[in-house]
Amino acid sequence: MITMIIGEAALETVPREIAGHPSVTRLAERKGKKPEETLLDISFHYAAMKGLRDWERRGRPDITFLTLLDLLERPLNKEGQLQVYVHTVNNFVIWVAPEINMPRNYTRFVGLMEQLFSVGRVPPRGKPLMLLKKGTIRDVINGVEHSRVIFLTENGRKVNLDRYFSELVKREKPVLVIGGFQRGEFTDFSLADEQISVYKKPLDAWIVGSIVSHELERALGII
Ligand SMILES: C[S@@+](CC[C@H](N)C(=O)[O-])C[C@H]1O[C@@H](n2cnc3c(N)ncnc32)[C@H](O)[C@@H]1O
Repeated sequence: MITMIIGEAALETVPREIAGHPSVTRLAERKGKKPEETLLDISFHYAAMKGLRDWERRGRPDITFLTLLDLLERPLNKEGQLQVYVHTVNNFVIWVAPEINMPRNYTRFVGLMEQLFSVGRVPPRGKPLMLLKKGTIRDVINGVEHSRVIFLTENGRKVNLDRYFSELVKREKPVLVIGGFQRGEFTDFSLADEQISVYKKPLDAWIVGSIVSHELERALGII
């Protein structure tokens, strides 16, 4: 089983300090929700967000959406070899059931996430498909069986993908961490046994997720 963590993801509800800003209240009213029950989204809340700490690394739920969609619909997941977690910028951890049928539509995804932040689970009753609780990347790592923690970063050691991943699956139970933010670096690499790069320039998180999963699928003989 491979564990993947989308780390420090730019996924959160609107923080109280900007809940009264017109760009926030307008969208919330349209949805029939309180501002704090809606997701922070830089495409809509740019004017309000500019006063927030680290605003350039926040308000991008689409990164988590696209990365999850890719990871969960792949052969690696369909073969029961993947467990995905999302760790958010405000230290929430989302457990995602491998069998979840991810919405292909972004607006529907946002609705699901707003429900998750509001009631702590999706769906509200019955067998959970997503669960939300407070936690850090360390909590996720401590909670899963693993032998090696690998952070993906463009500043890491450039590896030969084919060779690296075939050796990895032979010897280790890996946890792979991909940044779920749009700019900058992880704030903390202390948990990493290794930092690796898949390409010499920065890529979008979902592309990295896709490259890594593809290599794992080949290394495991799934495709
Ligand atoms: C959009 S990047 C983060 C921002 C990027 N560091 C920048 O300043 O443009 C999202 C994540 O994808 C992963 N990533 C991006 N490029 C990578 C590369 N060349 N090799 C390995 N991982 C990469 C990292 O985990 C990174 O945190």
